[in-house]
Amino acid sequence: WGTLGHETVAFIAQHYVSNHTAAWAQSILSNDSASYLAGVATWADSYRYTAEGKFSAPFHYIDAEDSPPTSCNVDFERDCGSEGCVVSAIANYTTRVQAANVSAEQRDYALRFLVHFIGDITQPLHDEALEVGGNDIDVTFNGTATNLHHIWDTNMPEELRGGYSLKDAAAWAVNLTAEIDSGVYQNQTASWVAGLDVNDAKATALRWATDANAFVCSVVLPDGEAAINGTETYPAYYDSAIGTIEVQIAKAGVRLAAWLDALAAGNKTVA
Ligand code: ADE
Ligand code: ZN
Ligand code: ZN
Repeated sequence: WGTLGHETVAFIAQHYVSNHTAAWAQSILSNDSASYLAGVATWADSYRYTAEGKFSAPFHYIDAEDSPPTSCNVDFERDCGSEGCVVSAIANYTTRVQAANVSAEQRDYALRFLVHFIGDITQPLHDEALEVGGNDIDVTFNGTATNLHHIWDTNMPEELRGGYSLKDAAAWAVNLTAEIDSGVYQNQTASWVAGLDVNDAKATALRWATDANAFVCSVVLPDGEAAINGTETYPAYYDSAIGTIEVQIAKAGVRLAAWLDALAAGNKTVA
């Protein structure tokens, strides 16, 4: 996701975490502001382009080698890659953020990574290898030349909400939490966190990757790559996709809150 998506996921999580979890996270991040998670939600996208953080670039996705639109699935051994992927990264940083023997800086990085990757894993094209997760599928969006990956990360969310500022993210989060609490998502939120287990983070993250990858067949490329390559994706394709984008952002926020609550519950050093 782009800035708007990641910050919205973080604001949704901030809305649902317990007070204990908020204190735990604020202590690790040395930030007690009203946007303590949203403010670090895109850090991993800057870090990946630094010399120091280059190692983390593969952690934003898992390249599932399936055949959309006829088959969609994720296989950890086949797809994760020797340098790691979003599934192994969520598992590793879940361990690291809780470990006794890591520096304050490394714990801070681990939490920043989790806030970001639990967002990225719900973007269907972050769980798909085809054309580098759609980066090599050229499309236009309302006349602007771009690619399929980018319209999912950025153009379509921004079209929906009208901007990408921190305020836009906070407002989208308010809208989505209302749908979660008493609206269109009310009866599906339990399924979003079904099987969630911080003590088996790899299995949980693999379940999340598989869930998002299924949308590649059903929504992202329902008629295959050739049908969308070179086309204008606004408004018809946008209309077919935007509901999935909204549900995936909401889902990531609810999962992130549950994940952090479970991690913080195991930590008694912060009131
Ligand atoms: N680079 C390689 N595969 C990718 C993917 N699925 N998503 C984003 N970036 C990628
Ligand atoms: Zn992306
Ligand atoms: Zn990312």
